[in-house]
Amino acid sequence: MKRLTLFFFLTLFSAITFAEIITLNTPNSQLVLKADSATVPHILYYGDKSANPTELENAGFEAFPAMPAFGMIDMIHLPALQIQFPEGDLNLDLRLADISHATTENAEIVSFVMTDKRHKFRLTLFYKAFKNTDVIETWTEICNLEKKDIVLKRFDSGHLFIDKGNNIWLTHFHGDWAAEAIPVSERLTKGVKTIRNTDGARNAHLDAPEVMLSLDGEPNEACGRTIGAALCWNGNYEIRLNIDNHDNYHLYAGIDPQSSEYVLSPKQTLTTPKLAFAYSVEGMGGVSRSLHRWARECGMMHNGKAVRDILLNSWEGIYFDITEERIIAMIDDIAKLGGELFVMDDGWFGGKYQRNNDSSSLGDWVVDKKKLPNGLQTLTDAAKQRGVKFGIWIEPESTNTKSELYEQHPDWVLQAANKNLNLGRGGTQVVLDLTNPKVQDFIVNTVDKLLSENPDIAYIKWDANASIQNYGSTYLPKHKQSNIYIDYHLGLISVLERIRKKYPDVVIQNCASGGGRANYGLMPYFDEFWVSDNNDALQRIFIQWGTSYFFPANLMAQHIGGSPYHMTGRIVPIKFRADVAMSGRLGLELQPKNMTEQELQQCRIAIKDYKQIRDIVQLGNLYRLVAPKAFQVHPEPLPPAEQDIVALMYVTDNREQAVVFAYSLSQFQYQKPQRVKFSGLDPEKQYTLKELNIKAGEQPCSLNGKTFSGDFLMKNGILIPLNGDYASRVFLLN
Ligand code: DGJ
Repeated sequence: MKRLTLFFFLTLFSAITFAEIITLNTPNSQLVLKADSATVPHILYYGDKSANPTELENAGFEAFPAMPAFGMIDMIHLPALQIQFPEGDLNLDLRLADISHATTENAEIVSFVMTDKRHKFRLTLFYKAFKNTDVIETWTEICNLEKKDIVLKRFDSGHLFIDKGNNIWLTHFHGDWAAEAIPVSERLTKGVKTIRNTDGARNAHLDAPEVMLSLDGEPNEACGRTIGAALCWNGNYEIRLNIDNHDNYHLYAGIDPQSSEYVLSPKQTLTTPKLAFAYSVEGMGGVSRSLHRWARECGMMHNGKAVRDILLNSWEGIYFDITEERIIAMIDDIAKLGGELFVMDDGWFGGKYQRNNDSSSLGDWVVDKKKLPNGLQTLTDAAKQRGVKFGIWIEPESTNTKSELYEQHPDWVLQAANKNLNLGRGGTQVVLDLTNPKVQDFIVNTVDKLLSENPDIAYIKWDANASIQNYGSTYLPKHKQSNIYIDYHLGLISVLERIRKKYPDVVIQNCASGGGRANYGLMPYFDEFWVSDNNDALQRIFIQWGTSYFFPANLMAQHIGGSPYHMTGRIVPIKFRADVAMSGRLGLELQPKNMTEQELQQCRIAIKDYKQIRDIVQLGNLYRLVAPKAFQVHPEPLPPAEQDIVALMYVTDNREQAVVFAYSLSQFQYQKPQRVKFSGLDPEKQYTLKELNIKAGEQPCSLNGKTFSGDFLMKNGILIPLNGDYASRVFLLN
């Protein structure tokens, strides 16, 4: 974590001046803090810009320590920070020692330096408010100035305080492999609500490290004061919500300290991950749009403003059955369909052990000469000849006990001393010990070799299919074994930084058994993530919907899967499958050879039309128009009175163009059709609808070519013809 280094390059324009009230501003929100040298900084308010500090104080708003520290707050409150000092003392006694202000091109940063009255200890609390989007980041630097180790027992990145909340609702994202990101909304009640993930290596399956708080009652997509919070970390985390005895609400978020108390050496500093907050009066939709802009423009995504290529991935088409002939045929197929990139997934490598299934060879990153006798260059050349780029899959953080790497370096895997290894995928998979610099070098060198020997590789799919099941490092000393969960990720970040420094232009996809790493922790080093291993178009709508609350469309890789789909057995028409994938970064995940001529024809149309709208979809502002009925806070009895449809749209910044997607999930007799009201348009502008990805051989629907004012579309809406299950429409609005 190089944040401190970065900080030195910023313009410091004021230091050691204490202000009573410090306000951090974004275009439409503010964080108001109170600071004086007799105590620690306090949060007075986070929310609308119109409130001024005098009004807040006159109205009786309470202030609360920004970083509640054990020993300094009333013991009935939860601490965000707790340190054990060398003599065993757990109490902090911090005082504000310095305040610095700095500006960067797109943000204002305030840092509060606190020192302890009784211990040699420094805490710096940072806030970074962005000028172009309503996002504020917060994080800390914890520095041990003692002569002996100290133990960080609790070290949240940030804490948010909401004075006298009332009827606040939490939305968090729960799920599992192949069923990621299901929004769950519930009213917060007294007590502590905890959201956490303890996988070790990934954190977005099960519960994701992002939440929304609706401050005005039930969550609303378009209105109501709403706060989004995303912890930018890929490891174990804990988000706690608590209503205190004064009816004040607290949100705490940080690395999960369970089995992870961090031992900090003398002079060592730990920088905690960033916690990003967004505030909007435009409901959850407003929060999503601010976060999407922050992700694209403020460096949380590598190359965030680029549009992505349309690709074919080999995995669900041929799995491990890679041969040169099959790969070249697939390259040929995607080129003929109009695609731009082919990605060879798992199964291409292995020396002594062939990777014919998931039980061997991870770590043996040499081309399997039996499958690919002429090496990778024949494939990259074949791609070049056909005008498409070439990408490749790797899973560099793992090995299998059946591999040459494990045979040579058994000490390189995470392992508990004198205990049998717990084995993961394929009955043999184990995670490498990324706390070890030699392992870090091995991974960097593996990627470097692959990319330097094959300069035509334009894309990497970086997978991670194992959780940390073995808790122990042969590298870390005995007294630092509890640093594993954190040092693993610091090691991974260091690896990615080194790779990115040398290969800034290679597109890298972040994948972890589907959407296991759909988080902002690693996103500064990646270009996109794989949303889910589930390509069933119906369930994919739910997964994409949930993922879209925090992540922009150019980050979300969405592929057209086969039909019937192998996980669900569902048979879904190709137009619907394509329309669902087109709402993010379009790709294909099937064997084109198994497609019918009609399916191929529809894919050609979809790819051609997607090229017209991809800028708008991938870089536009998202408006979720009609939520799946399953996600509504009060689901109706089945079948609902209205047809179950889903609609969303993307609008360009200048509001001149938009794209609307509408899907019918199911239709029953007597159900009313729904009129879809658009959003985000300019009420004064006239928009003409052009239907896209029209079903091969059919005419566009009656709305094609019709013109409406933005005002009409937003106030009255239109009936989109969606007849039957899996009917769908895509419109470009010009
Ligand atoms: C899990 C990924 O999510 C899949 O897309 C695929 O790459 C497999 N791993 C390969 O083993």
